[in-house]
Amino acid sequence: MIFPAELIQRKRDGEELGSDEIAELVLGYARGEIPDYQLAAFCMAVFFRGLSSHETFALTEAFIASGETIDLGAMLGRKVVDKHSTGGVGDKTSLAVGPIVAACGVPFGKMSGRGLGHTGGTLDKLESIPGFKVELTIDEFVEQVRTVGMAIVGQTAELVPVDKMLYGLRDVTATVDEISLIAASIMSKKLAAGAQAIVLDVKVGDGAFMKSIEDARRLAELMRSLGEQAGRRVVCLLTDMDQPLGAAVGNALEVREALETVRGHGPADFAELVLDACSRLLALSDLGVDVVEGRRRAETAMTDGSADEMWRAWIEAQGGNPDEAALEVAPVVREVKAARAGVVERLGAIRIGNAALHLGAGRRTKEDAIDHAVGVVCLRKRGDTIAAGDVLAEVHARDESAVDEAVREVTAAYELGDHAPPARSVLLEVID
Ligand code: URA
Repeated sequence: MIFPAELIQRKRDGEELGSDEIAELVLGYARGEIPDYQLAAFCMAVFFRGLSSHETFALTEAFIASGETIDLGAMLGRKVVDKHSTGGVGDKTSLAVGPIVAACGVPFGKMSGRGLGHTGGTLDKLESIPGFKVELTIDEFVEQVRTVGMAIVGQTAELVPVDKMLYGLRDVTATVDEISLIAASIMSKKLAAGAQAIVLDVKVGDGAFMKSIEDARRLAELMRSLGEQAGRRVVCLLTDMDQPLGAAVGNALEVREALETVRGHGPADFAELVLDACSRLLALSDLGVDVVEGRRRAETAMTDGSADEMWRAWIEAQGGNPDEAALEVAPVVREVKAARAGVVERLGAIRIGNAALHLGAGRRTKEDAIDHAVGVVCLRKRGDTIAAGDVLAEVHARDESAVDEAVREVTAAYELGDHAPPARSVLLEVID
């Protein structure tokens, strides 16, 4: 039997805890036998002292043991691949990657979450499609991946239930942004959901959890090692989140942009990231292709209409209307114009994310309702040369009352100067 206060004290003093001690603490909390305040104190001790890689793996295993696991590969008789992003502004990558990878003949089964704060969640984006159902049973999920080729659903309550409890606690005790806790939280869900190979998109910059490339690298290496210890192949892409990804930020706007990208007409930075992720996923799959051939196949699926067909089949299978015209459009659209000529030196991701949030595209608390139609479209990005009066962005709003504040925020997000910033591609580094 463990004494939680003693474990908290030992962690506070920088000791390494045993795997069995960590398991008992986490599972005792999951059963409701250990109170919130002791786990909150434990998380704070971890925040200051960190966890060794041994402890982080034990924490991940304890998270997984708090619920059910799915062996997707065995259920489908195929190697299943998955992707995950640590979250950013305008990040609709899964919506485009899924249909492209599935159109190339690789089963894509993904469990996703909702957004909180300035980053949007995949499920919220999908729910802007009229009729789309994100809640499938595990059997329905597996059957859809088998028959259609792909499914993206909400994380079931049975998978890693303690993560939801603990995330809520971390969120209100300033202990979310600790690398071991983030790694265990993300990887436990990926490992429990059963994919054998995983591409992790670790965002770096202003709009991401990880503000520096060094921290992003540490998180990526830790998640990769947790995956490998559990016998899974993990490739991490470190990608730029100093500016929003693509142009659209806001649920229906992002769905529309993802569909354009699936059809080969997406914004350059977003299309590039989608192709990077697809080629890595195909190279990890059972197709027996390398990254170069994976990229060629992904490009073909985007141009020959097969990814578009897969989009339609997938959305219909989950009860949604796949037509672009069915997506809700915001009643008020206001252009944001450049006050001077120059070059876009910076486009702050957080500021754009917050503008979309204040328009109603995101949630400030878990209970908030989302307005699927609203958001921001960033027509000009870092490095673009502009003339005075050029349209930089569009604000899509529910009514006039919300527009002025959003226009002010979007204007402040654009830093115009006289010097082009160094060119930087969206993919910063690959950890393979
Ligand atoms: N995403 C997660 O799922 N968990 C974290 O702790 C942080 C980001």
